[in-house]
Amino acid sequence: LLNQAIVQTQVDSTQILAKSYINEINNHFVVLSDEQTKGRGRFNREWSSLKSKGLWMSIVLKPDIAIQKMSTFNLFISLAIQEVIEQHYNIQCKIKWPNDIYIGNKKVCGFLTEMIADTDGVHAIICGIGINLNQTQLEFDKVNQSHATSLNLENGKPIDPYQFLTLLIKAIEQRYDQFLNLPFSEIKALYKEKSMIWNKTLTYTEGKKQIVGRAIDIQDNGFLTVISEDGNLHQFMSADIEI
Ligand code: BTN
Repeated sequence: LLNQAIVQTQVDSTQILAKSYINEINNHFVVLSDEQTKGRGRFNREWSSLKSKGLWMSIVLKPDIAIQKMSTFNLFISLAIQEVIEQHYNIQCKIKWPNDIYIGNKKVCGFLTEMIADTDGVHAIICGIGINLNQTQLEFDKVNQSHATSLNLENGKPIDPYQFLTLLIKAIEQRYDQFLNLPFSEIKALYKEKSMIWNKTLTYTEGKKQIVGRAIDIQDNGFLTVISEDGNLHQFMSADIEI
């Protein structure tokens, strides 16, 4: 499925480069770079992408689906990343809905999903994934990322980026196939088990809406149900959650 790759040593952002190739490449493809000078996270936050310290990549997928289906895409992708870290590197980690992977209370991976769509449906998904592999504590301290960690910091072993990439591509291919063919309800129990946000009072922000509450469930369409301190129920499609 994902057998075409563009590999660079330095780019501004793999996300930007990936978008520039969408019309040129008909199939699915991957863009990776050793280093990004303008890596960006959700909400346009800066994403530190030191040379050869992590996997900085964007995956372009060309599905033929209605736009409504996209509401569960991130859930399937989260599971793919979570299971590679847990099963192949033996590190306990959890999904922080909707777009992050945490080890304890430290972030090891963040991803963001953009798409090109119109009334006919979704033409391209551009999923940018950043995974911290080999940063040291000092390197995180220097860029003020006290809430970040790397796989190497967690298990003490140097991580081979290409080995990680191979495992991740395989996991993403499987989960993407499920995303296209199975309802989210089929993997919901597993997703909930691998999520970290249950039973915690947290601050949820989506656009202008901000509430303090506890996540209690996830809907079959991927929306998160949160109960606020006054007992009201809220549905979030995507939110910024302060841990
Ligand atoms: C987040 O946690 O807010 C998402 C971070 C996404 C970072 C990745 S690294 C590869 C791709 N290129 C970018 O500029 N961003 C994504």
